Amino acid sequence: MIIIDGKKIAQDIRNELKTEIDKLKSTGKNVPGLVAILVGDNPASESYVRGKAKACEEIGMRAVTERYPSDMKETALLELIESYNQNNLFNGILVQLPLPKQIDEDKVIEAISPQKDVDGFHPISVGNLVIGKPAFRSCTPAGIQELLIRYKIETKGKHVVVLGRSNIVGKPIANIMLQKKEFANSVVTVCHSAAPDVSYYTKQADILVAAMGSPKFVKGNMVKDGVVVIDVGINRIEDNTASKGYRLVGDVDFDEVSKKASYITPVPGGVGPMTIAMLLKNTYEGFIKYGR
Ligand code: GUN
Repeated sequence: MIIIDGKKIAQDIRNELKTEIDKLKSTGKNVPGLVAILVGDNPASESYVRGKAKACEEIGMRAVTERYPSDMKETALLELIESYNQNNLFNGILVQLPLPKQIDEDKVIEAISPQKDVDGFHPISVGNLVIGKPAFRSCTPAGIQELLIRYKIETKGKHVVVLGRSNIVGKPIANIMLQKKEFANSVVTVCHSAAPDVSYYTKQADILVAAMGSPKFVKGNMVKDGVVVIDVGINRIEDNTASKGYRLVGDVDFDEVSKKASYITPVPGGVGPMTIAMLLKNTYEGFIKYGR
């Protein structure tokens, strides 16, 4: 059994990007820029956005965080996005979700230029992914595929079973693995809360992607020997022995499932660190394609 080291792979990607950005700088060229827009004071969002800004700065990208109070008007946010659509110093625009209830998330996502949609949430990006055209791919699913690539895990013809149908993970990873391309070309099943017997599906998985947000849901008796397990869950569970009073667990019962798996991602340190790494990669690639 091999534990997939997402932290290391994410760091490798960040180092590779830094090398490319150093080259741009040494030849006096412009560098990629990312703006993160945060509305309100959700502590989880605040910590994600801080992590994103720090990661950009570490590799020499331009990073700006725009913070606004939770009563921001939708029109003001749409105007702000439009100003960054026009601003050539920034080739990635990220609006941290969730947004306060007076703001329509769909409208906001659609206001971002598809050429700057480094989150891959715009309907044009999603549509292009579905029909197999180049597009920004949302960062967590792109990170999952990158782990499969860097560990050289065979995916062609394999049965990928995805637990969860969110727009951020479940649906895009299903579409990515369905592509007739290298490190995809899989047979894909998407399983969700309406399935009467989830284990009927999970037992068939060659590659299991758990992304439904339910702590330690996948047990050892739900998978077959040799399964590749990608655990996207990040759940806080109470733990009085931990200094913070809680610890993080995935959607997979690691102790049980790791005994049967050929590869497995841990939580934390598996898929989690890949999200920011792929955001940086999307921003860099957007800059190369559209930004200079
Ligand atoms: N909220 C939770 N995950 C994400 C993400 O990947 N991007 C954005 N913009 N908001 C999020």
